[in-house]
Amino acid sequence: MRLNKKYGPWAVVTGASSGLGEQFALQLAHEGENVVLVARREDRLQALAERCRAAGGVDASVLPLDLEKPGALESLDGETAALDVGLLVDNAGFGYMGKMIGQKPDRLARMIYLNCTVALLTAQRFARRFKARGGGGIIVSASLAGFQATPNMAAYGATKGFDLLFSEGLADELRGTGVDVLALCPGSTATEFGKVAGSKSGGQGGMRPEPVVAEALRALGRKDVVVTGLANKLVAHLLGPLLPRRFVTSMSGRAIGRMVPREE
Ligand SMILES: NC(=O)c1ccc[n+]([C@@H]2O[C@H](COP(=O)([O-])OP(=O)(O)OC[C@H]3O[C@@H](n4cnc5c(N)ncnc54)[C@H](OP(=O)(O)O)[C@@H]3O)[C@@H](O)[C@H]2O)c1
Repeated sequence: MRLNKKYGPWAVVTGASSGLGEQFALQLAHEGENVVLVARREDRLQALAERCRAAGGVDASVLPLDLEKPGALESLDGETAALDVGLLVDNAGFGYMGKMIGQKPDRLARMIYLNCTVALLTAQRFARRFKARGGGGIIVSASLAGFQATPNMAAYGATKGFDLLFSEGLADELRGTGVDVLALCPGSTATEFGKVAGSKSGGQGGMRPEPVVAEALRALGRKDVVVTGLANKLVAHLLGPLLPRRFVTSMSGRAIGRMVPREE
């Protein structure tokens, strides 16, 4: 069944101005969903809205918001209240690479606020709306980084562990209500994430966003958690649980350490 028939005519995508969010918007538009695009960079959102209209013949509305600012979630709720929203892609977030003792406390606090508090409170608001309307779907952008400790971006991995766990808990709480919740757990994906997080290479390695998003949309309503890509599935579901915890932490830290500039 097409997503707009199953979940409803409107989808809200946070973090839509680049990367996974942009790709969600395009694939949802292709599926016939009207989209509300949320992020800070309005010019990007306007250009994407045009592409969504062209891709799916759908309505696309732009909502420029800094989700870290007080009142942002109330604005998001208020601005979308008149629309029959049935899907939320709860995706805005950023990473911060480097050893924790050298990291800026205010940037760490901002990241934890956006990736954890905002992600959870956005999911909660829309979960209430979806339960009241008798159905809906929520995709939370967690990460493979949420499955084990991530030295060299330790706090980021912890925020994604939080996303994974609150999302799984919410999925269980809402079972039988018609509201599906999915934790999306990509490994490294070629978006602006690496550049923002401070990766040496700008983070252009890993999977393309297109198959990551396609796999997430297929998994919604079928699973509570999806780890995208075969190699990432092996790490999360086979190697991680089998190998000693300290070894897995150390391997993960080495892999991330290769991406961190030397002075970090
Ligand atoms: N790429 C990866 O390797 C990877 C792997 C696993 C999980 N993830 C997760 O996937 C999600 C999307 O990341 P991405 O890879 O697509 O990175 P990205 O290309 O950097 O996109 C991040 C999005 O979040 C938005 N955003 C950041 N701060 C915001 C704020 N204060 N208010 C509103 N929007 C804000 C950005 O838009 P503006 O700057 O315009 O506001 C942008 O649209 C994140 O939660 C990330 O943790 C990424």
